[in-house]
Amino acid sequence: MKKKIAVLPGDGVGKEVTKGAVEVLKAVANCFEHQFEFTYGLIGGDAIDQVGNPFPDATVQICQQADAVLLGSVGGPKWDALPANIRPEKGLLAMRKTLDVYANLRPVSFYQSLIDASPLKKEYIEGVDFIIVRELLGGIYFGEPRERKVEQGEEIAIDTLVYKRTEIKRIIESAFEIASKRGKKVTSVDKANVLESSRLWREVAEEVAKQYPDVALEHMLVDAAAMHLIRNPKRFDVIVTENMFGDILSDEASMLTGSLGMLPSASLSTTGPSVYEPIHGSAPDIEGQNKANPIAAILSAAMLLRHSFELEEEAKVIEKAVGQVLNAGHRTADLSIDGKGCISTTKMVGEIIDAIVDDSAISKIMTCYT
Ligand code: IPM
Ligand code: MN
Repeated sequence: MKKKIAVLPGDGVGKEVTKGAVEVLKAVANCFEHQFEFTYGLIGGDAIDQVGNPFPDATVQICQQADAVLLGSVGGPKWDALPANIRPEKGLLAMRKTLDVYANLRPVSFYQSLIDASPLKKEYIEGVDFIIVRELLGGIYFGEPRERKVEQGEEIAIDTLVYKRTEIKRIIESAFEIASKRGKKVTSVDKANVLESSRLWREVAEEVAKQYPDVALEHMLVDAAAMHLIRNPKRFDVIVTENMFGDILSDEASMLTGSLGMLPSASLSTTGPSVYEPIHGSAPDIEGQNKANPIAAILSAAMLLRHSFELEEEAKVIEKAVGQVLNAGHRTADLSIDGKGCISTTKMVGEIIDAIVDDSAISKIMTCYT
C-alpha cells in the first residue's frame, strides 16, 4: 500500500513523541511492505515563531494532500502572553475545523501490567475498556460571540456555547455505530438539567437511538459522569459527549490507565484526511529531556493505520508490541511508581520497534527491518 502521511510535530514533547511514532510507522511499513511518504508541516507555537501563524497555509496544503495526519501537541508558556487569535491552540482548533474532523475517538484501555501505575484501586480498574466519543468542532470552543469588553464600567468576558441539531446528530450516530460493533451501550453525557444545548443534545440522542434497537442508550449528567468514571468505570462502553465535557472527562479517564501519556486519539472526518494525536499536551516541563512517554503517540499511529488505511493487522501488531514491552517491565518516568529504572523516550520507541520486528506472525512470513 502506498500512502501519504502529513506529520505535524508541534511544540514541546510533541516533537519527541511524533518522531517515535514515525519510526514505528516506518518499521511497520518495512515489515508489511507498504510505502508511507511523510511530509512535515508547522503548527502551533513553532509555526508562530517561524511564520507568524499557528496554522499556516503551507500546512493546510500539506494536510489536504495527505491521506492522514499525525500530530504531536501544541502550546507552551513561551506563547501564553500572545493575543487569543495567534495562540498555538488556535492553530490546533483551526486545523480541526479546516479538516472537518468532528468525531474525536479516545479509547481507554486497561493494561494488566500497569495496574500499579494507576492511582486507583486495582478492583476498580481491572478490565476497564471503553471509548470516549468527543464532539470536536462545536460547543463553547467555537461559539460566537467570544469577546472581552467593558459594560457599565464592569469588565466582562463572553464565550458562547452553541450546538446545531445536525452537529449533534452526526456525532451521536458515530457513537452508535461504534457501540453496535462493541458492547452495544451508549452513555450520552450532558448537563440537561441546566443547559439548553444539552436538552437538544438529549432529544437528538433519543431520536438516533431509535435507529439502533440493539444498542442501549443511557443519559448521564456530566458531574455524575465524572464521579462514575472513578467509582465504576467498568460500566461504560461508549461515552458520547460535547466538546468541552469530552476534553475534561478524557483527561480524567486517562488516570484509569496509569498516565496521560497512554491515551491515543483519532479525529475522524468523512470528507478528507483524519487526524491522529495523543491526548496529552506539550508538557513543557519535560520538553527536550528524552523523558516523555511515546506510547500515546505510537498508539495514535496504530489508530491511523486502522481507521484511515484499514490496516487492522498492522494496527494490532503495534498494540500488541506496546503490551509486550509493558509486560516486560519497561516504563517511562510517568509510569514508574518510584522513578527508579525508567527508560527514555527513544529507548521505549526502540523496545516497541524490536517487539514489532520480533512478532512471530510477521517474522514467519518475512524478514524485515534490520
Ligand atoms: C486536547 C487538548 C486541546 C483541546 C487543547 C490543546 C486546545 O487539550 O486535545 O484535549 O482542548 O481540545
Ligand atoms: Mn485536553
